[in-house]
Amino acid sequence: MKRKIVALPGDGIGPEIMGATLKMLDSLELPFEFIEANIGQSAYDATGELMPQRTLDLLEEHKIAIKGPTTTPIGFGFTSVNVGLRKHFDLYANLRPVRGYGDIPCLFPAVNLIIFRENTEDLYAGIEEEISPDEMHSIKVITRKGSTRIAEAAFDYAKTHGIEKVTVVTKANIMKKTDGLFLAVAREVAEDYPEIQVEEVLIDNMCMQLVLDPTRYQLILTENLYGDILSDLCAGLIGGIGLAPGANIGTDMAVFEPVHGSAPDIAGKNMANPTALFLSAAMMLDYLGFEEGERIRRTLHSYLQNPQNRTRDLGGELTTTAFTDGFIKALQLR
Ligand code: NAI
Repeated sequence: MKRKIVALPGDGIGPEIMGATLKMLDSLELPFEFIEANIGQSAYDATGELMPQRTLDLLEEHKIAIKGPTTTPIGFGFTSVNVGLRKHFDLYANLRPVRGYGDIPCLFPAVNLIIFRENTEDLYAGIEEEISPDEMHSIKVITRKGSTRIAEAAFDYAKTHGIEKVTVVTKANIMKKTDGLFLAVAREVAEDYPEIQVEEVLIDNMCMQLVLDPTRYQLILTENLYGDILSDLCAGLIGGIGLAPGANIGTDMAVFEPVHGSAPDIAGKNMANPTALFLSAAMMLDYLGFEEGERIRRTLHSYLQNPQNRTRDLGGELTTTAFTDGFIKALQLR
């Protein structure tokens, strides 16, 4: 029986990198059947809905998806599909590994860390109000439940992956109640993991420390907004956002997607780097218990070592299609 997986191409470069990723996954001949569904701006244009009912039903039924980026207008219009999806299915843990691949010229090729970002609360709860045309409020929501489950997920992961240190990032010196609660809960959860060292760093200092030497960090546990910002910062340290994968995990469901957005500036030009979605697919294979996830990562590491095997964002000249075809060949040699 084939495992059914929902494929959500999304907007902008989404369909191009999803096409590349499904081709790459097909070449591995795994027992999967991909069911394509619409989400985001493209779904809205086709059906008048950002998250059509068919898409929600498929996700509910199959509990696993690989997703391309979706476009969110700034300052007006609909709220983010991503935030909506994560809240709708309670995908509370956002895992974003950051690792240098294939000698790409970058600040810190030796980085190897993972960010555990709380994915449903914080300022992303979307509770905003207009007091007057000249005064807007946004409410920051932090709960014991939300903080406990992300802290437990982070410490469990650290324990099972031989990670010695967890760095908890907040601004608890200023936001004493909200960030204070997140930090207090992290400390409580840490008590159950005496073998793991815990370090507490404030978000502003963390940004500086990461730019000075990110190799000092193994696992960063943080809130929604800080995690979002830190993951882009970390992607920059390893050579760019085209290399950064992610996973949104709930109790019985998971959606795998890159950190980057829909890149409207290069959409439809066969220029996008599909690596972040390849690596998100590799995380999906890990989640499903297939060893091929590691094969994808190993192949990528050696494939990218040749500067001729790089897309434009990494200083190369390959199109999305040529990059993908070359990668599939390299994968078959492994
Ligand atoms: P972006 O990540 O789409 O683009 C930032 C820069 O990185 C652009 O120059 C783009 O060309 C480049 N880039 C991104 N991914 C690339 C790839 N795979 N290959 C080569 N170059 C790549 O961020 P931006 O411009 O801030 O956002 C564009 C749209 O994406 C917005 O509507 C935003 O809301 C949405 N977005 C969606 C996300 C998601 O669906 N998970 C995450 C982040 C942003």
